[in-house]
Amino acid sequence: MNLQLDPYSTTEKDSADHFRLDILNGLQNTPKKLSSKYFYDKIGDHLFQKIMAMPEYYLTRCELDIFKNKTEELVELLIPQNEPFDLIELGAGDAMKSTYLLEHLINKGSDFTYMPIDISGNILSILNDKLSNQLPDLKITCLEGDYFEMLQKAASLSNRRKVVLFLGSNIGNMTPDEAENFCIHLNQNLSSKDCVLVGFDLKKNPHVILNAYNDPQGITASFNLNLLTRINNELGANFDIDQFQHYQTYDPISGACRSFLVSLSDQQVTIGNNHIAFEEHELIDMEISQKFSPEQIKELGEKSGFITTGEIKDSKKWFVDAIWQVQ
Ligand code: AVI
Repeated sequence: MNLQLDPYSTTEKDSADHFRLDILNGLQNTPKKLSSKYFYDKIGDHLFQKIMAMPEYYLTRCELDIFKNKTEELVELLIPQNEPFDLIELGAGDAMKSTYLLEHLINKGSDFTYMPIDISGNILSILNDKLSNQLPDLKITCLEGDYFEMLQKAASLSNRRKVVLFLGSNIGNMTPDEAENFCIHLNQNLSSKDCVLVGFDLKKNPHVILNAYNDPQGITASFNLNLLTRINNELGANFDIDQFQHYQTYDPISGACRSFLVSLSDQQVTIGNNHIAFEEHELIDMEISQKFSPEQIKELGEKSGFITTGEIKDSKKWFVDAIWQVQ
């Protein structure tokens, strides 16, 4: 396996310190805030797999529909000249959707290297083994580390055109300002004619959206509450999980779908030497899953210096993969 390690990567101790500081800072905010990027420990990963399999959670199936059934259209928009290129995937995970694209490109005889980027070396090693078995002709270079450092690394490894995938509406887990800064940064880390494909969840009937995040089985609630368990386990805290309740909102005007945990009593939580007081009904702001109108997507692309070269929707028109090119 060709695993490029980030020479500046943080040690496990650094990332544990970072986690502790981030959690303590967030809980000292008003309103209290925890970052959903910390949802994904082993149990969180498992709960997210369960969410993706829920009938209410349409996002994964919609984007899979695009990658499975509109692969030729994707290729025409991403690689119109069929020249050699590097296909980079940010936060590749198990690459379930992109595998359809990889297979199509191999069958077509395209000259490309797949470069999945992930902060988890473990995920990359599992992905590398899986793809080596499934697609033995695939050239793969795994890049472990921060997205932007690894994009620079990819640029230093070859001067071929870069095609970057950022799937799954992961952009929706950023606030609108964070998303704009992220896209500007992405643009600055690429070269002229490189392109990105970004997956956006579209605004639609608000009931459909709210149901996807407010499932009757309570899997999304457990997904949120698991971060408190993680803090207990990793930071020696004493959250009483039964004293917090999941609450989900969707504002169809702004498109913000938000999750909160509500404190069910006046209570004090200890994290190491720190004591955090909660009033009854006090909220912890846990996650935003932003939904977009086509105009908002176009504006985001333009503001961050891209030209929209295409967009592909699933058959229900609930999700869109937008293709943007660096000018
Ligand atoms: C990973 N991310 C795009 C998911 C979303 O839809 O915002 C995370 C999630 N949160 C609750 N359900 C799914």
